[in-house]
Amino acid sequence: MILVTGATGNLGGATINALLKVGIAAKEIAALVRNEEKGAAFKSNGIQVKVGDYDDFESLIAAFEDVDKLLLISSSSDIKHRFNQHKNVIDAAKKSGVSHIIYTGFDMKNLVQSTMADDVIYHAYTADYLKQATVPYTLMNNTLYADLIPIIAGENILDNGISIPAGDGKVPFLPISEMADALAGVVTTPGHENQEYIIAAETAISFAEIADIISALSGKKIAYHQAVLGVYIEQLVKQGISESDAAYMARFAGAIAKGEFETNKSDVEKILGRPALTLRDYLAKIYLK
Ligand SMILES: NC(=O)c1ccc[n+]([C@@H]2O[C@H](COP(=O)([O-])OP(=O)(O)OC[C@H]3O[C@@H](n4cnc5c(N)ncnc54)[C@H](OP(=O)(O)O)[C@@H]3O)[C@@H](O)[C@H]2O)c1
Repeated sequence: MILVTGATGNLGGATINALLKVGIAAKEIAALVRNEEKGAAFKSNGIQVKVGDYDDFESLIAAFEDVDKLLLISSSSDIKHRFNQHKNVIDAAKKSGVSHIIYTGFDMKNLVQSTMADDVIYHAYTADYLKQATVPYTLMNNTLYADLIPIIAGENILDNGISIPAGDGKVPFLPISEMADALAGVVTTPGHENQEYIIAAETAISFAEIADIISALSGKKIAYHQAVLGVYIEQLVKQGISESDAAYMARFAGAIAKGEFETNKSDVEKILGRPALTLRDYLAKIYLK
């Protein structure tokens, strides 16, 4: 059985869909949820529902019975708790005899020396812990979601243009659906044990280039504004984002500006046997007139 954590979230849910799409039977998939009600939709589709919380080791032990492959989608809890939660999942998986743990890490040039190391270092700690856990592992180091562009670049891009203090920094943005396909690919094809993959688009793109792509797609000239930090945070708060999340996103903008996402490598084609969706094709789904 394949168990997917974070099943109620964007990437976990998309990964379950991707597993079904490649032909895994619903009864061979288990969704880890924090409470039974959240699993109702999975249950009605024949997917097994396991109740467990990353903070509750015994609940994980119960949930991981009969699990062969475990997809650990990184936690969305408060950042300071994430490493310990991942450690709990890895320890419980090991104790339960799971044969392969796949973890969604993060693709930056250097997590430890990043300008936002406090926000991302848990991925490095988790990767190190997983590597020494003696259970076969695969690290899927995801770049930034393309799905974040309409949030971090300002609401209503077609009317207001793009607004983010990201300079000329580039990101190999990749849609969540592509990351999910790559996860399903690693779970369902052989040879991925003890490998570390970069899950990113082939080409990194700047926000000036994104403005040009959306201009061409929409037929409207889209400007790229380099909002100053305070104004950018205010803009996000006006979108309904909390002050602390807005400050967090501003730190991402700073890291993008410094080129911290320009790792210039992608293993997606190798895993999927087809090229990754380009950002232009993804944006066309949203902005093509
Ligand atoms: N690469 C990127 O651009 C990017 C962007 C955003 C986030 N991320 C990272 O990637 C992860 C997946 O992204 P996403 O968009 O799918 O996030 P998401 O939609 O927020 O989903 C997070 C999932 O984690 C579960 N979860 C949180 N705390 C838990 C706990 N203590 N025990 C068990 N489950 C718990 C949530 O369950 P509930 O439904 O019960 O809350 C939810 O299913 C995030 O959690 C974050 O670490 C990456």
